[in-house]
Amino acid sequence: MTSVGQLLAGKLAIVTGAGSGIGRAVCNTLASQGAKVIAADRNVKAAGDTVATLQGSEHVSVEMDVGNSKSVVDAFNTAKRHFQAAPTVVVNSAGVAIDNFILKTTEEDFDMVIRVNLKGTFLVTQHAVREMIDAGVAEGASIINLGSYFGKVGNMGQSHYSASKAGIEALSKCAAKEFAQFGVRVNTVLPGYIETPMTAFIPEKLKEKFIRRIPMKRTGQPIEAAEVIAFLASDKSSYINGASIDINGGIN
Ligand SMILES: NC(=O)c1ccc[n+]([C@@H]2O[C@H](COP(=O)([O-])OP(=O)(O)OC[C@H]3O[C@@H](n4cnc5c(N)ncnc54)[C@H](O)[C@@H]3O)[C@@H](O)[C@H]2O)c1
Repeated sequence: MTSVGQLLAGKLAIVTGAGSGIGRAVCNTLASQGAKVIAADRNVKAAGDTVATLQGSEHVSVEMDVGNSKSVVDAFNTAKRHFQAAPTVVVNSAGVAIDNFILKTTEEDFDMVIRVNLKGTFLVTQHAVREMIDAGVAEGASIINLGSYFGKVGNMGQSHYSASKAGIEALSKCAAKEFAQFGVRVNTVLPGYIETPMTAFIPEKLKEKFIRRIPMKRTGQPIEAAEVIAFLASDKSSYINGASIDINGGIN
């Protein structure tokens, strides 16, 4: 059920990495703002668990490995059979971090992080926009990609992760320029330290050290990223395109 005043009433949204952390919070926020949600994750059980928590009953979960083009196309086709429509909101939140120093990083780990984070964002964005154009619904569409504070400043032990996130920001800026002619906006959010399963392993001492550098002296919650993403997904941000928005408590 949607109601007047909801930011995303009637929109169909696809969220990758929907089974955890920021992706899950985004699904919740988009659904609470009236969107129908396609929750995509390589862990389809976790995506299903997300769907079970959403407001409304018209949402679906789909299995998708964002780094595999066939898996991306299959997932979009499954969603199309269900909704008979193409999503016009796309949130690329699927991501992995495999931390290690450059001198110890294996070629396999480097490839894996780039494959999921950067290539995955590319494949999902490319297929989503092709589908929007084919369906004639591109005008007013919005794509939001997950970059990172570390893509701007780098981080010890996160060379492949930081490089993938800087790449996502550049990819988004190119996409914003290429897709404006179709009415599709593309923006990046750059979270700092958000409390999710991805950051849960960080040792307490390191976490405290990082928090001391944040002017607001605290970490962020997934909902605080999700609210910004919902705004970027909505027509309220209709003149924001190719932007990168910090969500980091003021650390710079
Ligand atoms: N948590 C933070 O502090 C933080 C900061 C900056 C950026 N980010 C970015 O935000 C995004 C979400 O992070 P999070 O903290 O919610 O992480 P998370 O680990 O909680 O969730 C990531 C989700 O992505 C899914 N996933 C991983 N590989 C996939 C693949 N190949 N195909 C489809 N799904 C896949 C996982 O199954 C998981 O559900 C990531 O891109 C991350 O890099 C997070």
